[in-house]
Amino acid sequence: MSQSNYIPEDAPFNAEQRQWLNKLVGNFISDLTSGKGIGGHGGAVVPVTILVGSQTGNGEGLAKKLAKAMAKMNFAPQVEDMGSYDKARLAEEQNVLIITSTYGDGEPPDSAADLHEFVRSEAAPRLENMSYSVLALGDTEYPDFCKCGIEFDEALEKLGARRVYPRVDCDVEYDEDFAKWKDGVMEAMGGSAVATDESEDVAEDGYSKKNPFPAAILKNVNLNGAGSERETYHIEFSLEGSGLEYEVGDALGVMPRNCEVLVDEILSNLPFKPTEEVPLPGSGEASLRDALINHYDVRSLNKRFLVNWQERSGSPYLRSLVEADDKKAYDDFCWGRDLIDLITDHPADFSDAEEFVGVLKKLQPRLYSISSSPNAHPGEVHLTVAIVRYHSNYRDRGGVCSTFLSDRSEGVQPGVFVHSNKAFRLPEDGDRPVIMVGPGTGVAPFRAFLEERKVSSAKGGNWLFFGNPHEEGDFLYKDELEQMQKDGVLTQLDLAFSRDQAEKIYVQDRMLEKGAELWKWLSDEGGYFYVCGDASRMAKDVDAALHQIAQQHGSLSESEAQEFIKQLKKEKRYARDVY
Ligand SMILES: Cc1cc2nc3c(=O)[nH]c(=O)nc-3n(C[C@H](O)[C@H](O)[C@H](O)COP(=O)(O)OP(=O)(O)OC[C@H]3O[C@@H](n4cnc5c(N)ncnc54)[C@H](O)[C@@H]3O)c2cc1C
Ligand SMILES: NC(=O)c1ccc[n+]([C@@H]2O[C@H](COP(=O)([O-])OP(=O)(O)OC[C@H]3O[C@@H](n4cnc5c(N)ncnc54)[C@H](OP(=O)(O)O)[C@@H]3O)[C@@H](O)[C@H]2O)c1
Ligand SMILES: Cc1cc2nc3c(=O)[nH]c(=O)nc-3n(C[C@H](O)[C@H](O)[C@H](O)COP(=O)(O)O)c2cc1C
Repeated sequence: MSQSNYIPEDAPFNAEQRQWLNKLVGNFISDLTSGKGIGGHGGAVVPVTILVGSQTGNGEGLAKKLAKAMAKMNFAPQVEDMGSYDKARLAEEQNVLIITSTYGDGEPPDSAADLHEFVRSEAAPRLENMSYSVLALGDTEYPDFCKCGIEFDEALEKLGARRVYPRVDCDVEYDEDFAKWKDGVMEAMGGSAVATDESEDVAEDGYSKKNPFPAAILKNVNLNGAGSERETYHIEFSLEGSGLEYEVGDALGVMPRNCEVLVDEILSNLPFKPTEEVPLPGSGEASLRDALINHYDVRSLNKRFLVNWQERSGSPYLRSLVEADDKKAYDDFCWGRDLIDLITDHPADFSDAEEFVGVLKKLQPRLYSISSSPNAHPGEVHLTVAIVRYHSNYRDRGGVCSTFLSDRSEGVQPGVFVHSNKAFRLPEDGDRPVIMVGPGTGVAPFRAFLEERKVSSAKGGNWLFFGNPHEEGDFLYKDELEQMQKDGVLTQLDLAFSRDQAEKIYVQDRMLEKGAELWKWLSDEGGYFYVCGDASRMAKDVDAALHQIAQQHGSLSESEAQEFIKQLKKEKRYARDVY
């Protein structure tokens, strides 16, 4: 049912507030005209605050879906990004739904860090008047599965809030769990559950994660020169005819295919016919070989998988591993091993091929930061992909998606979809300077940023810190970056070639060398600071360097520097796209 617009478009409210007010007025009028009296429509409008902590947009997307569903019922939902949410409001909230992912090694996403710290601190208020529930997003491949959501759930309970619906911990395939949680919380909060119409998403969004666009590859080249130990591919896809649109800062999802040689080796060690029909994850059927190439994860191992496998295997080694239940022993076993190692070294019994695929997980798409601006390359999208290759347990191995793109994509149109990342955007005001720190493949979104700043004739300065092992062979996009410098678009370029001298030099060393100027760009000129690339080491060290610069050149104490950087994040002037 469409909603009437009682609140003028130019009234000083955002879209959600306007929707909520329109609904409130609509209900009021309908109650009056129906003679039911105010609030007599079977339940007053229930205000609900949906707090989202999201790094790459999954949680943000779910929060929007939840708000849309709630707005169709007797709820007035308001979605709040945890990063900009005013903590002082917490004590007043009656109904809170938390949707948060987990990042790094069991850490909160950047936008959730402050609130996560607050609710677990002495400063947090009692929350006896609050009803709440948590949807935790995560990935069972990580040891600290859904840790941030679990910690929010525990903290709110400790503060006296009433959990109206149990927390749901979601793995990468979260749609079903989300739908259950959504219906459950709406019922628990006084609405009535409605069936989820999944077809709505596809119809609304066109090509999407569920329905990827088969994109022709226009260009696929290794950016590293001869002699380099690295392989980083620049890949251009055509989006012609897809209707897909993206903004700089977004990522592209790519559906990989497993290596046929590996799948044939797996099949040669199993007693099943490759042509046998098996069910696909979700729905449908295909031959076993096709299913293993295109639909199932035939690589990654984790504790859950090993426990499952051990039950069907006579392997004494696996039995002792499972019985010991030691996290480190599991991690050590899984690191550098795949399904093929289990099949050959610890065979298991399956009654048929259907039972075998039943233990496998669905093959997942991989995300890549987009390295082109749609305004510089209409109808195209570009990626910068590091190819993963390593040798372990007597085998040469390769990353599923990166080697698919480099080695096995000729003549193939890989399925792609746009993954929006609203937290990683250029400033709206083109006069603001931007500082970009992107070693290795971290340079990807900054190539896009620079192209966009050029096309839009933005006047603000652009400063890039780039690093890689050697200048010779690893200076990605060297010609383009040097041309951007000549054109005056790239105002400053600082390079850290880590292995060109005896001592390692990293991007954060270059930042510290230029600390005074960097501080000036950030504090005096209202600059924006962006980091992209490795999450586990680089992004942490760059963050530490930024704190050091704030103390040294801003004359701030340690806690003042922390506050300054928290504020930068709140103002969305410090954004990270790290993986
Ligand atoms: C938001 C986002 C943006 C991203 N942007 C980019 C980008 O712009 N460019 C880019 O290249 N990547 C990017 N990535 C990473 C990308 O999504 C993939 O994770 C990456 O390409 C590896 O995928 P794969 O399928 O090739 O490898 P997988 O098949 O997933 O294999 C990787 C796994 O192999 C194992 N492994 C790797 N090396 C070793 C080793 N030496 N020994 C033992 N085991 C090992 C590890 O278990 C590792 O997790 C991004 C990720 C995210 C989440
Ligand atoms: N989370 C992940 O799993 C993850 C994340 C990023 C990359 N990778 C993998 O690493 C390979 C290459 O990735 P990439 O091209 O993006 O490059 P990268 O490995 O991130 O390296 C880029 C540059 O960063 C340097 N570096 C290493 N540690 C650093 C630190 N603590 N602070 C700052 N700089 C640091 C490297 O130096 P040295 O190498 O000389 O030390 C190199 O010069 C790929 O196989 C990719 O899949 C994995
Ligand atoms: C670099 C990186 C680290 C992650 N670390 C964890 C983790 O420690 N625990 C976990 O359960 N999930 C982890 N995840 C998975 C995310 O939580 C999951 O993909 C989630 O759907 C992301 O939601 P978001 O896009 O809303 O941030 C990690 C993902 C990435 C890319």
